[in-house]
Amino acid sequence: MKPQAFYIKTFGCQMNIRDSEIMAQNLYLDGMIETMEPDHADIVILNTCSIRAKAEQKVMSLLGQLRKFKKAHPAMKICVAGCVAQQEGQELIKRFPHVNLVVGTQHIYRISKLLSQCADHSHTVTELSSSYRIPNFIPEPTDDKTNTPSEGEFEFKKFVTIMQGCNNFCTYCVVPYTRGREVSRPASDIIEEIRALVESGVREITLLGQNVNSYGQTNTVTGDNTPLTFAGLLHQVAAIDGIVRLRFTTSNPKDLSDELMACFGEVDILCPQFHLPVQSGSDRVLTRMNRKYTVEQYLEKVARLRHYRPDIAISTDMIIGFPGESDDDFEATMALLEEVRYHGSFSFKYSDRPGTRSAEFDEKVAEDVKGVRLSRFQKRQDEISLKHNQKFVGTSVEVMVERNDHDSFNGRTTTNHIVHIDGECDALPGDLLLVQINHAGQHSLKGFLKK
Ligand code: 5AD
Ligand code: SF4
Repeated sequence: MKPQAFYIKTFGCQMNIRDSEIMAQNLYLDGMIETMEPDHADIVILNTCSIRAKAEQKVMSLLGQLRKFKKAHPAMKICVAGCVAQQEGQELIKRFPHVNLVVGTQHIYRISKLLSQCADHSHTVTELSSSYRIPNFIPEPTDDKTNTPSEGEFEFKKFVTIMQGCNNFCTYCVVPYTRGREVSRPASDIIEEIRALVESGVREITLLGQNVNSYGQTNTVTGDNTPLTFAGLLHQVAAIDGIVRLRFTTSNPKDLSDELMACFGEVDILCPQFHLPVQSGSDRVLTRMNRKYTVEQYLEKVARLRHYRPDIAISTDMIIGFPGESDDDFEATMALLEEVRYHGSFSFKYSDRPGTRSAEFDEKVAEDVKGVRLSRFQKRQDEISLKHNQKFVGTSVEVMVERNDHDSFNGRTTTNHIVHIDGECDALPGDLLLVQINHAGQHSLKGFLKK
C-alpha cells in the first residue's frame, strides 16, 4: 500500500520549528512520508502562531485556500496545531468545517494518535496543564535515507526545548494564554536528548524557552531533586562532548542573573550573541507593559554582558506604538537604540491580541503614526547594524558552513552573522572554515576562503 504523505507548514518562532520537527518524526515512525506539496498530501498540518494579528491572518487565509484542496481530495485530513489552535479551539472547526483536527500547544507530540482518532469526525484537544511534561525526544537511528524526515532545515544544528510557557503576563502578550504556565524539563531529559543529537552529527545546539532565565525556578516537572538554575544547566550542556557551538533564546531582562552573564566568560562554546528583548525605551511604557524593569536596570545588564564578553553581539525586540506611547516615549526608544547600538533588532507595530490586558487600554496609537515611527526606528537600526558589520571587514572569522551547493555557499559567525563565501571547496554543512571578510551589508557579510 502507498504510504500516506503529510505536509507541515510552520509559522512563527523557533519553538514551533522544533515542534514541527518532532511531529514530522512521529509521523515518520508511523510509516508516513513528507511531501512539500499540500495539494498532494493526505494530511496537512498548519503549526500556527498568534503573537500578532498578521501571523494569525496568514493562517486564516491559508485555511481558506485549503478548502479547494480538500474538495479535490476529500480524504485529506486537515489539522491546525499550535498557538492559534490553542486560542481558537472549537471555533476553528465552526468557521472552517473542512478542518478535521485542532491540536493545542501541549498536545502536538501526540499527533499520530490524535490523527488516527479523528478518522471519521473532527476532534479538538486544547486543554493546558501545569503538570505537563515535554516528552523526551530521541531521533531514531536509521540507515534508510529514503525515509528520514527532513529534520527541519539543517541537520547540523538543532533547537532543543528546555521549558515551555510563561508566567510573566506582559500586558500585550498572548503567550501565557497559548502556552500556559512555565514548565521546565528535567535536566536529565535535556542532556539525554542533546547527547543523542550530537551522536547523530549535530554540532550546534540552541536551547529554547519563552523565558530561559527562569529555567528550573518555577514548575519543574522533574525527577531530579535539586533545583538547577539556567546557568547550571548551561554548564552541564557545555560539558557534553562534541558540541561545537551553543546558543540560547529568549531571555527576559528582569530575570537575567549575574550567574548567567558570567557564563559568557566561562563557557568556551557559548557563542558571543545575546537576544535581550527590551520592547520600549520609555519607563512609562515599560510599566504599562508590566515588564518589571527600568531602562536604567536594562542598561546595567547590557554593560555587565559587555564586561564579560566585549565582542558580544546584542539584539532586541521592540514594540512600536504601544497604547499610550507618546512622541516623547518614542524618542526615548530612539535614544535607547543610540545608547545600546544593537547589532540587530526585530521591531513590530503593536497589535491588539484577544484576551490580553493591553487590548483593553485606551489611547491606541494610530496605524499611520505607528508606521512612521517603525520606519524611523528600522532605518536607524539598519545604519547601526551596517556600522557594526563594517568592523568585520579586513578581519578573518570562523564560519560554520550552512550551505555549499550550486546556488549558494554560506555560513554563520559565532555572533550569528550570515557570511556569503567566495571560492570553492568541498566543506559540508556544519564544517568550520576561516573566512576573510571583504564586504559588509546591513544584514550579512561577504568574504573569501582563507588559505
Ligand atoms: N504586538 C506586537 N508585538 C508583539 N510581540 C509580542 N506580542 C506583541 C503584540 N501584541 C513581540 C514582542 C516579543 C516578540 C516575540 O513579539 O516584541 O518579544
Ligand atoms: Fe510574552 Fe512577556 Fe512571557 Fe515574553 S516574557 S513570552 S513577552 S509574557
